[in-house]
Amino acid sequence: MKIFYFTSTGNSLYVSKKIKENFEECDLVKISRELDDVIVEEEKIGIVYPLHSFGLPIVVEEFLKKIKFKSNPYIFVVQVTGGGKSNNGFYKINELLKKKGLAISNYEEVKYISNYIRAGRSPSKERAIKSIEENEEKLNHFIENITIDSIKEFKKRKNHITFLIHNLWRDKYKKKDKNFNVNGDCINCGLCKDICPSKNIEIVNGKIEFNGHCTDCMGCINICPKHAINIGKSTIKKNRYLNPFIKRDELIK
Ligand SMILES: Cc1cc2nc3c(=O)[nH]c(=O)nc-3n(C[C@H](O)[C@H](O)[C@H](O)COP(=O)(O)O)c2cc1C
Repeated sequence: MKIFYFTSTGNSLYVSKKIKENFEECDLVKISRELDDVIVEEEKIGIVYPLHSFGLPIVVEEFLKKIKFKSNPYIFVVQVTGGGKSNNGFYKINELLKKKGLAISNYEEVKYISNYIRAGRSPSKERAIKSIEENEEKLNHFIENITIDSIKEFKKRKNHITFLIHNLWRDKYKKKDKNFNVNGDCINCGLCKDICPSKNIEIVNGKIEFNGHCTDCMGCINICPKHAINIGKSTIKKNRYLNPFIKRDELIK
């Protein structure tokens, strides 16, 4: 079994690891723009991702367009949110799979907390842990179901308004790193460069440069140990978020 996961701050990795623990053979594969030429031969696969603006992270959508299948696998999907909910991510995945003659076999949504520092404040560590604990039963139940290949077809309709909001966020609002800046606290550790799923960050003569291909995932801002990366001035006083059960190292593998 393989689980393809996308994560910026560790919530989706936490879920993926938890599922992996319950299977004898399971590989975790991180989705990034570098992941190419994937041909699925397994009988069971998972797709785990955070909800981004009522839909799929840009890098996940790109990946699902490229992935090829030799097998006709059982496909389970977990959408990890920041407290909100949306069917559009599942809907989009089913649309992309349909083009390959496949469909979602089972799916679940878990509601954690938001890492979208651009739009709000990150919660305290205690609140983050509580939200994870609140979802454990649901997640365990889902794991039991996928262990026995139980089928839950996705049949819901898309929400046209939130679909439109997602498409506007994805397509119209280019240069998502436009107002990103790095202050003098930067220690050149390179974690921001390493976590970026779109290879958007370079270090040139000891200075961090953003190259305009940002997908708004908030990985670099949240992982920086010195809180040196900001969006304009709007994030200066906001605390950063990383899943409390995931280490920085695991996010940059
Ligand atoms: C660009 C962006 C958009 C987001 N949009 C939503 C949203 O529409 N609804 C929601 O509940 N959470 C939203 N979030 C929050 C994440 O889905 C949430 O924090 C998730 O648990 C993060 O998972 P990760 O740690 O695996 O990246 C958004 C986060 C980002 C970076």
